[in-house]
Amino acid sequence: MTIRWNVLFNLHSDKELALTLCGSLDLREGQFDMRHFPDGESYVRVLDEVKDLNVVVLADLYQPDHRILPLLLLVETLRDLGAKEILLVAPYLPYMRQDKRFHGGEGVTSRYFAQLLSSYFSALVTVDPHLHRYHNLSEIYGIPTQVAHAAPVIAEWIATIVDNPVLIGPDSESEQWVTAVAKQAGVPFTVLSKTRRGDREVEISVPHLEQWLNHTPVLVDDIISSGHTMLETMAHLNRLGLPKVVCIGVHGIFAEGADMELIEKSARLVTCNTISHPSNAINIGGLLATSIRELA
Ligand code: R5P
Repeated sequence: MTIRWNVLFNLHSDKELALTLCGSLDLREGQFDMRHFPDGESYVRVLDEVKDLNVVVLADLYQPDHRILPLLLLVETLRDLGAKEILLVAPYLPYMRQDKRFHGGEGVTSRYFAQLLSSYFSALVTVDPHLHRYHNLSEIYGIPTQVAHAAPVIAEWIATIVDNPVLIGPDSESEQWVTAVAKQAGVPFTVLSKTRRGDREVEISVPHLEQWLNHTPVLVDDIISSGHTMLETMAHLNRLGLPKVVCIGVHGIFAEGADMELIEKSARLVTCNTISHPSNAINIGGLLATSIRELA
């Protein structure tokens, strides 16, 4: 799929990210008006010519239930106005964690969400989706997909900023990110184990980390949602006498104000700009642009 993309519409995503993509891929930033009528319905008006053009929609899909309908209405409008191919760039891809029926009667919503997006877009590019039981996105997405990995830019940030780091993954699911980052930053790492007791309750194994007492612990995870995984791990590390922790998440969701407690208890809270937040210190725009170019 070697396509020359022409114009990018940014639906609520990070402004710096949109600028990086437009600069790297020589895209024009498209103008549109999207707002709510007093009754809550969406109004959409595309202010740029899109007829026969290939369009990129950069969408922040944090809190997807509020954002998906406006996104689909924008895409319908673009198609109606004659856009050719429409690429969804969703730096954070939601609905990836319900990847099996954990209890009888549950919906496997990752699959339904994938089917919905696949029916609207020509292709999808994202950053480190939560691939746990699925091995790749093509298991659920019916369109071409490309994944950018944040490990190189996280590794660069750690190597530049953190003094004498040891990387810590809170659970086996984080192992893939932690090992990749540790390898690229050339620093030691360890992975703990986590038992999830509920949406807001996790239990982390008591780690044996005495050998790292003189290092700066850096917790790395793909998603920070309720923050309990990070907070619980930090509590263990504090009890063992390690210095204050640097928390790094690829995607900072920070449900229910979790960021406040994390900022208070950590040495620093850092995320990639896949979701706009004051903790964004790592720009993944360059890597995303490469993935868009590599879309096969
Ligand atoms: C799931 O296993 C992910 O890798 C994260 O560890 C998880 O989403 C973090 O969630 P929370 O911040 O709610 O503990």
